[in-house]
Amino acid sequence: MIAYLAPEKFLPDLLEELKYVKSVHGNLVLTDGPLQNPVWAQNIWLDAQIIPFESITQAAKALKALGKLWAPYTIENHRRAQLIQDQLPKLRPRVINFLDPLPDNNLGAWMLLDKNTLLASPTTNSPFPLGDVQFNEDKKNPPSRAYLKLWELFTVYGIKPKKGQRVVDFGSCPGGWTWVLQTVGCEVVSIDRAPLEPHIAALPGVKFMKTNAFNVKPEDIGAIDWFFSDIICYPEKLLELVQNWQASGLCSNFVCTIKFQGKTDYETLKKFLALENVRIQHLHHNKHEVTVWIKAPSSS
Ligand SMILES: C[S@@+](CC[C@H](N)C(=O)[O-])C[C@H]1O[C@@H](n2cnc3c(N)ncnc32)[C@H](O)[C@@H]1O
Repeated sequence: MIAYLAPEKFLPDLLEELKYVKSVHGNLVLTDGPLQNPVWAQNIWLDAQIIPFESITQAAKALKALGKLWAPYTIENHRRAQLIQDQLPKLRPRVINFLDPLPDNNLGAWMLLDKNTLLASPTTNSPFPLGDVQFNEDKKNPPSRAYLKLWELFTVYGIKPKKGQRVVDFGSCPGGWTWVLQTVGCEVVSIDRAPLEPHIAALPGVKFMKTNAFNVKPEDIGAIDWFFSDIICYPEKLLELVQNWQASGLCSNFVCTIKFQGKTDYETLKKFLALENVRIQHLHHNKHEVTVWIKAPSSS
């Protein structure tokens, strides 16, 4: 069986897209079909097994027989779960630096379905406990926490422009994404209706345009290697902007945030999912929004 853990608050979104649902435990959805690729899963338990047990020691033994390192997911019986976890090898916090290699130990995950039943998967799809990606944050330079979305995309998913590439950053104020893009050596055309923080605007390689992103034509900017957008706008409008740029032939790599207000706009999300070479994921650092990336097959 395969189980999918929804990020906090997004269980309804995960349930909307998952097939073969068998049961739901807190934010964890157990399925009995083949592996799916949901937008709204922050951790996938690839080999979930149900294991009855009598004692805490027996539960810990069963887990140790299956795998080495385990992250617990608890929704009830917290004390009992803690006593089991205490008998397992210690799981140290996994906090990494931007662009560090990922921790290479595979992580299992487990939970108590009730006092005497484990749901355990010795393999998961993330080297971070329950998909909780943690960075040693930079509290000094970036002017907003939005930079963590790009840090996660670049470090965990390996989606990153190369040094010297020309990129556009739409909806860039106060400048977190522009800062990240500048730090990896890009030439950044940074566009927002509101001004950038002065220390970001002054960085070498950053050119700021104070204007409405939807009035900027691709020909005004010319050829770019990557299109970035964190604009707050209706998903439908963002799709139009991406498709305009795709049609122009002036850019083939795209990273953007689809932001939802109130209810998730599944209809437009489906249209994004239908784009060629697209991947869409609710990143750990996303709020009620998802990150889209489209990478030209030839670019590395
Ligand atoms: C979430 S903030 C972006 C944060 C930014 N990525 C960062 O790292 O600091 C969204 C931005 O979209 C901008 N925005 C909204 N509509 C816009 C438009 N039509 N044209 C340009 N910018 C727009 C807002 O001014 C706001 O600064």
